[in-house]
Amino acid sequence: MAPIPSVEDLPHLANPLEDAKRTAAYRAVDENLNVETHKIIGIGSGSTVVYVAERIGQYLLDDKYTKFVSKFICIPTGFQSRKLILDNGLQLGSIEQHPVIDIAFDGADEVDANLQLIKGGGACQFQEKLVSTSSKLFIVVADYRKKSPHYLGTNWKQGVPIEVVPSAYVRVAHDLENLLGAKKAVVRQGGSAKAGPIVTDNNNFIIDADFGEIEDPKKLNIDIKLLVGVVETGLFIDNAEKAYFGNSDGSVEVQ
Ligand code: 5RP
Repeated sequence: MAPIPSVEDLPHLANPLEDAKRTAAYRAVDENLNVETHKIIGIGSGSTVVYVAERIGQYLLDDKYTKFVSKFICIPTGFQSRKLILDNGLQLGSIEQHPVIDIAFDGADEVDANLQLIKGGGACQFQEKLVSTSSKLFIVVADYRKKSPHYLGTNWKQGVPIEVVPSAYVRVAHDLENLLGAKKAVVRQGGSAKAGPIVTDNNNFIIDADFGEIEDPKKLNIDIKLLVGVVETGLFIDNAEKAYFGNSDGSVEVQ
């Protein structure tokens, strides 16, 4: 059985950004996953978390850890993460069976200095929020582009993703612009105009609402949640414990 490769000895990937994502994810797993005490593991969505599942899969193949890791139950945040769990030989579970998660790892679209996040660039934010808020420990994995020098909305220009009930999308977009001051609130479309709105894993639509730089994400999160038709917002407030940012030179910054 293969011993876990050390992060320092990994051969470089073709793309430095992928290297940054992998290093952040591997370090986050190595430094936070306790194979003896953690049993229920949340696995998020996106391109960085791919390396989290890959790293946990490496633990599974190492004799020293197999007996613990083979008993892990991994809770997905959507279709992609369900597949990641299975592809890495890990056991899949559901949040209905395991409403309390020991540790969850997920990516982010932007992270501010107070560890408040924008998520949902991949349209999974309802299930991501369900999993992260059900976790005793929530760890963010990201590349250097996600670290905001200032407020949320500084780097991430696509707006706050908001999951809405389909029949309410026009009303919610109207309220976001007229009541909450969004510069623009647009329903996210599929690949082509013909494809129509993107449908989430919960059969809802996503509205991306541009609030510019967000000074008070806590208040904005509450205000958006109070609109009729909103299922969940992509503002993740007071939830993350730590964020790992991979740099292109192979270093990792932990916040
Ligand atoms: C999906 C998400 C992702 O975690 C977020 O978009 C980050 O993705 P990536 O790791 O590909 O940068 O919130 O809804």
